Amino acid sequence: MPAVENTIVICAGGACISAGEISVKESLENTLKEYALEEVVQVVETGCMGACDLGPIMVIYPEGIFYQKLNSENVKKIVEEHLLKGRVVKEFLYTGPTGEVKEKPQEELPFFKKQIKIATRNLGVVDPLSIEEYIARDGYFALTKVIKDMSPDKVIEELKKSGLRGRGGAGFPTGLKWEFAKKAEGDVKYVICNADEGDPGAFMDRAILEGDPHTVVEAMTIAAYTVGANKGFIYVRAEYPLAIERFSRALETAREYGFLGENILGTDFSFDIEIRIGAGAFVCGEETALINSIEGQRGIPRVKPPYPAQKGLWGKPTLINNVETYANIPPIILHGGDWFAQFGVEGSRGTKVFALAGKVNNTGLVEVPMGITLRELINEIGGGVPNGKKLKAVQTGGPSGGCVPEKYIDTPITYDTLKELGTIIGSGGMIVMDEDDCMVDVAKFFLEFTVEESCGQCTPCRDGTKRMLEILERITEGEGTEEDLEKLKELGEHIMKTSLCGLGQTAPQPVLSTMRYFWDEYEAHVKEKRCPAKKCKELTRIVIDREKCVGCTACARVCPVNAITGSVRQPHEIDPELCTRCGSCLEVCRFGAISKVSP
Ligand SMILES: Cc1cc2nc3c(=O)[nH]c(=O)nc-3n(C[C@H](O)[C@H](O)[C@H](O)COP(=O)(O)O)c2cc1C
Ligand code: SF4
Ligand code: SF4
Ligand code: FES
Repeated sequence: MPAVENTIVICAGGACISAGEISVKESLENTLKEYALEEVVQVVETGCMGACDLGPIMVIYPEGIFYQKLNSENVKKIVEEHLLKGRVVKEFLYTGPTGEVKEKPQEELPFFKKQIKIATRNLGVVDPLSIEEYIARDGYFALTKVIKDMSPDKVIEELKKSGLRGRGGAGFPTGLKWEFAKKAEGDVKYVICNADEGDPGAFMDRAILEGDPHTVVEAMTIAAYTVGANKGFIYVRAEYPLAIERFSRALETAREYGFLGENILGTDFSFDIEIRIGAGAFVCGEETALINSIEGQRGIPRVKPPYPAQKGLWGKPTLINNVETYANIPPIILHGGDWFAQFGVEGSRGTKVFALAGKVNNTGLVEVPMGITLRELINEIGGGVPNGKKLKAVQTGGPSGGCVPEKYIDTPITYDTLKELGTIIGSGGMIVMDEDDCMVDVAKFFLEFTVEESCGQCTPCRDGTKRMLEILERITEGEGTEEDLEKLKELGEHIMKTSLCGLGQTAPQPVLSTMRYFWDEYEAHVKEKRCPAKKCKELTRIVIDREKCVGCTACARVCPVNAITGSVRQPHEIDPELCTRCGSCLEVCRFGAISKVSP
């Protein structure tokens, strides 16, 4: 059999599949057959490579050339040119925000260069369905090391040295949590993996489960050995069918290989994992609500203490960690806690996966050392704000977090610095906003989410957040008063102090942090009935400049409500009573005659 000359790694993560990866792969394999290359070119499907908006993507090795936005046609050309003639096909290479083509190996591209991959080390590298490929990348070596050579206390010691903190949102020190669970008294204990991932925009947990499921199986088994559990559950939302499928497959093969099930690696330690599928309520990601849900009860939070490590699933000591937290465990065991702690800064060690979204050129998943600045993340890795617009703020931590205004762009990202700025790292959602975003509207968006997702169990969260939303609606509709602003603040602070769980305790954060940094914007809405970003529909008007309008009629033809009148070659006019501010006319006017104004 001839030796393999090239390996093509094609991303089979959720986003690339939605963008057409299946037909690209089919066309690639057919073309390789057509040119009798199928024996010398190996095609490997992997998990998410991070640059999801460029999908479908593939990398050709040994050169590491990264091709983006593939389809079944252009992939044929890549085979003919790159593989047969040795010529890189420039038109499908990674293209930077200003249109420059980058003919460089993947790891030298700006999006990948500053990344350090620990939790996502195997994404885009291994076939998630192959346990052999996972083993070839040191998979299950950490478990073997733990079972053969390490006492539970030694595992905990390494975790403490590593400084790893929970990546699910609260940032609790992982070593300490494992120690509590180990020390808790009980003949039966449980280990849970929280894969609920309800934070809008975050998808690192899904990507890890889809792209490297064995790392979570291995880490949960290490956790079970350490704390003394024999049974584990992973709680995944039903919206993640591919993650569920690949994780189930990983469980089966891990059992076949003796890494899971009875007498693991021939010892008397037995542990197995069951998948529990959640219906997708944000509150079910809260650990005690999740435990209720696994027990078959309504998914509502319990009063803490007792904490799950003391009294969790079915009243037994339970260790619960997030997917990304678990994904860091095998490398920490293999290389040691000190190795992990070399990345990051005091109090925030290691790396963190962020989901970059919003007004940024390169959106997707990135894993960077803690302590990197927002500027490096947004401008260098993210490629900056598109269309020459100005960065206004970044929302971190999703609906439980807050915004960081542009003036703090040089802030290093750590648990402490973000806390000082009134926000959190959370699960790693990062939404970039530009000058066209209205901060009152942003706060309203997040509050709408929490109002919808509140479990309704306690009054401050159930009713208080609704009242806050009503006030925000009034403000964005031009009906707000100065008294409303005071009430909003007071109510927010009260809800945070008196709610039962983290959902209510953090729900007002997006409102309070935007009020803190963008008070003038709130005042403009209330006092001047003006939306400075011209986003709030009730406070804006669409107008036609008579001087610029040539009467081409393009706007009138697209207006869905016939709000535009005027004869051919005569200036047109918009009836403000009929206009719904849909913006369609703005997009079609080629003469720049139509604009949005806010008084
Ligand atoms: C409303 C709410 C939603 C949460 N959603 C998640 C989630 O989707 N995934 C997650 O890992 N943690 C979530 N958490 C945090 C968990 O309660 C818990 O702290 C975490 O699973 C612990 O794991 P870690 O220490 O590894 O971060 C949520 C918390 C709250 C208050
Ligand atoms: S704070 Fe909200 S989500 Fe949490 S228990 Fe109370 S009502 Fe339910
Ligand atoms: S904004 Fe929409 S509704 Fe208003 S005039 Fe233009 S096309 Fe018509
Ligand atoms: S799914 Fe392909 S890069 Fe994310």
